[in-house]
Amino acid sequence: MSAAPIGIFDSGVGGISVLREIHRLLPAEDAIYYADSGHCPYGGKPRQEIVARASTITEFLLARGAKLIVVACNTATIAAVEHLRATYPSPFVGMEPAVKPAAALTRSGVVGVLATGAALAGEKFHRLVAQHAGGVRVITQPCPGLVEQVEAGEIDTPRTLDLIRQYTAPLVAAGADVLVLGCTHYPFLRPQIQAVVGPQVRLLDTGEAVARQVRRLLERDALLNPQQRQGRVEWHTSGDPALFERLHRRLMP
Ligand code: DGL
Repeated sequence: MSAAPIGIFDSGVGGISVLREIHRLLPAEDAIYYADSGHCPYGGKPRQEIVARASTITEFLLARGAKLIVVACNTATIAAVEHLRATYPSPFVGMEPAVKPAAALTRSGVVGVLATGAALAGEKFHRLVAQHAGGVRVITQPCPGLVEQVEAGEIDTPRTLDLIRQYTAPLVAAGADVLVLGCTHYPFLRPQIQAVVGPQVRLLDTGEAVARQVRRLLERDALLNPQQRQGRVEWHTSGDPALFERLHRRLMP
């Protein structure tokens, strides 16, 4: 079983930002990546629909022998991870917006969270803020359209920069000095977001922490891959295969 791949999925290419961190930390691990681009974005969908997609993809990954599954999507984690854990006999690692480290880091006492509307509306997110924000003010900002820009490969276009300006301006105006990238697509826009908000604002995402959690679980279950060669990725998508291939080659060369 230790030679089996890690299964990882997202509504699209966003989870590749998490896969990059897993590969950095665990270079020998093979992975099967599933981009649900045919159903992207999840952000505006009802919870039950996201649970159904997450279950279908989990079954696909388990049928291909995945030893652990990473739900590399904040929206799918908030909507579905509890259901997945209760239903399938696999270890799961989910995403959690970096509210806790952001609350520890802020000096102004104001933290902004950029995420999808569905992620911000989830009860799991409200619990996270209630438990970990302490006395810090947490301002949330849904970002419709941003995931679609990344899915289209429009990382550095005027329209993307306009959206970034529109979504970050109220947070910066309210005094936020830390912004949480609460969607796995956003780390691909990190240089653009940083350029818009300026160097005094810190940006936090959770990819590296998730990679460490994957390592902890694989160590605990004696499932680390002992092979010497570099891990390989098997790519799957429910969307346009040619577009997906161009994108994953660009995002994870
Ligand atoms: N990458 C997903 C997330 O982390 C994007 C959600 C969407 O498809 O709207 O939330």
